[in-house]
Amino acid sequence: MKPKDLKHPYSFQSRQPHLGDGILFVPRHYEKHDEFTLPSFAELFENDHPVHVEYCSGNGLWICEQAEKYPEVNWIGVEKDFERVRKIYSKKVNSSLDNLFVVSGFGEPFAQYYLPKESVDVCYINFPDPWPKDRHAKHRIVKQPFMHHLMDTLKVDAPLHLVTDDATYASQMREVMQEITHVAHLEADEFFPENHEYGQSWFEKLWRSKGLDIIHLQYKRVPALCSSK
Ligand SMILES: C[S@@+](CC[C@H](N)C(=O)[O-])C[C@H]1O[C@@H](n2cnc3c(N)ncnc32)[C@H](O)[C@@H]1O
Repeated sequence: MKPKDLKHPYSFQSRQPHLGDGILFVPRHYEKHDEFTLPSFAELFENDHPVHVEYCSGNGLWICEQAEKYPEVNWIGVEKDFERVRKIYSKKVNSSLDNLFVVSGFGEPFAQYYLPKESVDVCYINFPDPWPKDRHAKHRIVKQPFMHHLMDTLKVDAPLHLVTDDATYASQMREVMQEITHVAHLEADEFFPENHEYGQSWFEKLWRSKGLDIIHLQYKRVPALCSSK
């Protein structure tokens, strides 16, 4: 299929969550997310393999490569921009990636309302938009309450990867993560087995080709001491 063959299933007026074949549409400007129940992962993927979620999947290069490389993992890619969702979905279909589920919509409601708590085995955010101007910083995805909701979806001991080329954003990420009680920071050695291959997203390839440094922060969920909500 071509990317444009994926049609949007509803108009703005008739918007509501829509589950298609391997894709969930999460509407924006919508108040009733809590009325929709996502089928269990076992129903969605027809197996009980571990589930890895990537927010801000872009054109899907990274997650599609991962899904192909690790067929024993169920992958969920979340992307707000519909034109990019079309690219991810067409790669999924054309490469028969049955272990990849696509979410067309914002990560924030998906983490808060659609994903069960303590259900995700690994989470990734690769090169979220840095919004470098101060007046745009409010659009950054790595902030509260999103990160708290995201951490709630992780199983205990499940890792979270945050990757960026933007040092200012990385500092903000560290601050945001420090505010959450059930999080531990991981040193690189603690996280990656020697032979772990993380893969490179489209933006990682771009920034590396321009000689930029890449910052890779790693955390894991630990049991909550008390709720910081
Ligand atoms: C700089 S691109 C990175 C894409 C990809 N991860 C990569 O590394 O090549 C950031 C992506 O995040 C998406 N995005 C931004 N905010 C989002 C949100 N709140 N929920 C879901 N996707 C979001 C953008 O549409 C864009 O595709």
